[in-house]
Amino acid sequence: MKNLFEFAEAFFGQVNVDEKLALTHQAWQTCIAGELTFTSDRPVLPIERVTFPEKPELLAPRQMPRRKLTTPDGIAAFFHAIAHVEFVAIYLAWDILYRFRGMPEQFYQDWLRVADEEAQHFALIRTHLLAMQVDYGDLPAHSGLWDHAKDTADDLPGRLAMVPRCMEARGLDVTPALIEKFKILGDDASVAILTRILTDEVGHVELGSYWFKFVCQQRSFEAEAKYRELIDRYYVGGKPKGPFNRELRKVAGFSDAEIDWLEC
Ligand SMILES: [Fe+2]
Ligand SMILES: [Fe+2]
Repeated sequence: MKNLFEFAEAFFGQVNVDEKLALTHQAWQTCIAGELTFTSDRPVLPIERVTFPEKPELLAPRQMPRRKLTTPDGIAAFFHAIAHVEFVAIYLAWDILYRFRGMPEQFYQDWLRVADEEAQHFALIRTHLLAMQVDYGDLPAHSGLWDHAKDTADDLPGRLAMVPRCMEARGLDVTPALIEKFKILGDDASVAILTRILTDEVGHVELGSYWFKFVCQQRSFEAEAKYRELIDRYYVGGKPKGPFNRELRKVAGFSDAEIDWLEC
């Protein structure tokens, strides 16, 4: 297989988690080798056709059991939740490159690299969980993470605003404090994994900002006003809640004015 969109359909159609990871790595390696093709005449499958494995069981956020980092079970539940975030992140990267056609080749290469990094994050967390005798799928997971993808299936600026520049950007706000907690617990393995993920995630949000500004320019939208409009439209409950990590968000392409607006 040499075509990006065929790889994407193979990824979505595959039910086995390990096979999904393998396909993602294979696609990225094909891209690095310069052998990947980026055009297709086949119609884009509707987002309703994207399915998730039978396990984990997906529950509404309020039905999710509470987890505390003070017990081994709580730590395992926390990493299971992170594994699910990373798993859905692989889907989100594949979906943005699959669904939105007619962009420069760099767009597809960028998000395929993100898909590969998300697959690495997932594999790291899964191995970490297995050391705690828990596998991905053993516990329930949050059902809402795919909602932003469904809401923005026909809206590329909306997708970029809601996924990298909202969901993933949230990781930049909360992960530094989590790393500090694991440092206090003396849990070096968890610190190393979360630090690696945070570093990559800054890059993902930065790409989100870059391509958001690119499509805004292409469509003659004023980017900051458009961002506010899209968050107003798609974010259930008004606006994302802070506190926001201004320093990391600025590295990732947010302006002070955007962060000020989020904060007020
Ligand atoms: Fe990730
Ligand atoms: Fe990410």
